[in-house]
Amino acid sequence: MVKENISLKKYNTFGIDVMAQYFAGFSTIEQLEEILEFEKLKINNPKSTTFILGGGSNILFTKNVEGLVLKNEIKGIERIREDENYVYLKAGAGENWHQLVLYCINNNLAGMENLSLIPGNVGASPMQNIGAYGVEIKDVFHQLEAFHLLEKKIVRFAKDDCKFGYRESIFKGEFKDQFVILNVTYRLNKIPHFNTSYGAIEQELQTMGIKELSIQAISQAVINIRSSKLPDPEVIGNAGSFFKNPEIDNEQFVNLKTAFSALVGYDLHNGKTKLAAGWLIEQCGWKAYRKKDAGCHAKQALVLVNYGAASGKEILTLSEEIIVSVKEKFGILLEREVNII
Ligand code: FAD
Ligand code: EPU
Repeated sequence: MVKENISLKKYNTFGIDVMAQYFAGFSTIEQLEEILEFEKLKINNPKSTTFILGGGSNILFTKNVEGLVLKNEIKGIERIREDENYVYLKAGAGENWHQLVLYCINNNLAGMENLSLIPGNVGASPMQNIGAYGVEIKDVFHQLEAFHLLEKKIVRFAKDDCKFGYRESIFKGEFKDQFVILNVTYRLNKIPHFNTSYGAIEQELQTMGIKELSIQAISQAVINIRSSKLPDPEVIGNAGSFFKNPEIDNEQFVNLKTAFSALVGYDLHNGKTKLAAGWLIEQCGWKAYRKKDAGCHAKQALVLVNYGAASGKEILTLSEEIIVSVKEKFGILLEREVNII
């Protein structure tokens, strides 16, 4: 069940070729407990780590993993409850995210359509409160169950326990590396509340000739927009946006806008403005930049790419150079969104 010296190249969408000392997949809680027992007995190394892997679409490996990589393969989609307005759907952490979105669309369950085509698995969806096109996972999240690695017990987290924020949750912060998320329950709407206000959705729906809105149409519009600018990891290695969009004080935004009139910003109505990091990076001249196999995507400067044989360290170095130049030009410190391992 536990394999040794496994290449992780096919397990991360950046396509970085590092090795895992130990590697094991599990599809039940019993299997997980067996593997952890093996780990306790066999891995007697103070530097050893345990890393939980989903679809590998939000990580950058910069070195070999000394220790155990645990691949979560828990499957299953179950309708556990419903009332007049909602259906509660429980999904195993190892289910593919986009397949779950399609399941909802095919069953007329609304709420996830704007989150179509995000790579990765269900288990990671609460990790960084995945978001796109005006919707975040917190909008449809009900609860999750997670296994505490040290205390060996299952804990239930309601929405407020997860401390969701922009690309943040308690699992990325305070409880980092402490829990294996086993399953997530989402609350879907029987009656859809269409959200088409963000970005290019309206325009894409028009291009598609849509006369009557539906969750199917919104999903297809989102898929079309995403496919036009985000690189397909099957073709070019990447992990989506490498940095978060920075949030700055409105006052700082007004000052910057005086100096850079084309600056892109969205008022968050809390005294802060969110800037488009892609614009800042493009203005520093990085868009379509390439050094050996590490680069900045030609259609979306926020996405760093691996053209084939880049190492995780080369991508990380490029990200450091970008951070320095954005800081020098705009006085803004970019924060990485991707998990650096
Ligand atoms: P992994 O990369 O395997 O893991 C991510 C983190 O979660 C790691 O720290 C890992 O240890 C932890 N983790 C994974 N599973 C579990 C578990 N079961 N229990 C505990 N910890 C776990 N993200 C967005 O939010 N919005 C987007 O629009 C978006 N677009 C993307 C586009 C592309 C082309 C790509 C490649 C990525 C994009 N992403 C986006 C990022 C990524 O798809 C999401 O963050 C996704 O949720 C990661 O899922 P994963 O299963 O691949 O996680
Ligand atoms: N822009 C540029 N140059 C670029 C890239 C973007 O000027 O090279 C400008 C665009 O013109 C636009 C603005 O930046 O005015 C925003 O661009 P886009 O709509 O492509 O979205 P984003 O802010 O770059 C965010 C998320 C994405 C998510 C989209 C859609 C973050 C860090 N990224 O990107 O999430 O899919 O919005 O909601 O919040 C991810 O997390 O991996 C990810 C892809």
